[in-house]
Amino acid sequence: MENTKKTIYSGIQPSGILTLGNYLGAVKNWALLQEEYNCYYGVVDMHAITVRQNPTELRKRCADTMALILAAGVDPERHTVYYQSQVGAHAELMWILNCFTYMGELNRMTQFKEKSSRHADNINSGLFTYPVLMAADILLYNADLVPVGSDQRQHLELTRDIAIRMNGIFGDIFTVPEAYIAKAGARIMSLQSPEKKMSKSDENVNGFIALLDDEKTIRAKIRRAVTDSDGEIRLAPEKPGITNLLSIYAAIKKITPEEAEKEFAGMNYGQLKEGVSDAIVDELKPLQERYYEIRKDKELLNRVAAEGAEKAASVAYRTLGKVQRKVGFAPRKL
Ligand code: TRP
Repeated sequence: MENTKKTIYSGIQPSGILTLGNYLGAVKNWALLQEEYNCYYGVVDMHAITVRQNPTELRKRCADTMALILAAGVDPERHTVYYQSQVGAHAELMWILNCFTYMGELNRMTQFKEKSSRHADNINSGLFTYPVLMAADILLYNADLVPVGSDQRQHLELTRDIAIRMNGIFGDIFTVPEAYIAKAGARIMSLQSPEKKMSKSDENVNGFIALLDDEKTIRAKIRRAVTDSDGEIRLAPEKPGITNLLSIYAAIKKITPEEAEKEFAGMNYGQLKEGVSDAIVDELKPLQERYYEIRKDKELLNRVAAEGAEKAASVAYRTLGKVQRKVGFAPRKL
């Protein structure tokens, strides 16, 4: 049975503090997917250094991120959770993929354009080839499905293009991955500027809820969340604040935003905010307890990372070996 399951790959960057957006948009869903799929989850530290990181902070955030994945309920025995930098095949495959990716394709990436304007003093080539590393992540594990938010769709499209191109040249080497669209919670927006994604890089801390915010902070941030003066609780593009609050509620309760809208119909904004705060607090409290427990267990974290890297490497190097043979490199002993 095991090997008839489809494979999922996803990655999370260990940069910045983790937010409710990361959790509802990604990691919570990772835990749900593990029943049905064979999952590989990478803490993508190599992607993280495309922008300047403080080394001590980065190492700490890698462990934080690993602890969150485990606290969310991902089972590292049945699946593979690992640090990207500990599996050398990522960098090696990336080089080969680089030689089959065009400058023009990378130049079109909206995230590159956006990040290079935000980090104008550090437009390094890693930032430019970031999507190729992401393609290597996905293709190494023959992933069928990749859960991604809308901001990563273009990168996944590029991954598909590279895979199809190389399959055309060399015969079938890669599984061509598809986007896995989460049913709910794919996009959580800033509480202060709800037309932007909720982000830890928000200068205004009221814009996001950190996963480790305490109850008082959570309630205060939701109370301050930007709404509108219309007074009616409904989903609408011209009501991004209310729509976002309903989406957060829906993602937590695993219902659709439309169902959330019905639940709050006729209530006032204060009541909506209270309902949303309650839901967040109920969701995060047990998560935080598990997180603190796991985070202080260095031995557990090290063991999971080591075993994860070993499992990941056994699959990744098999794929890499196949690709190296196809492109004409001399046979390699792993
Ligand atoms: N670029 C993704 C993000 O910032 C993270 C990522 C890296 C990823 N490699 C991946 C996501 C492979 C899915 C699959 O969100």
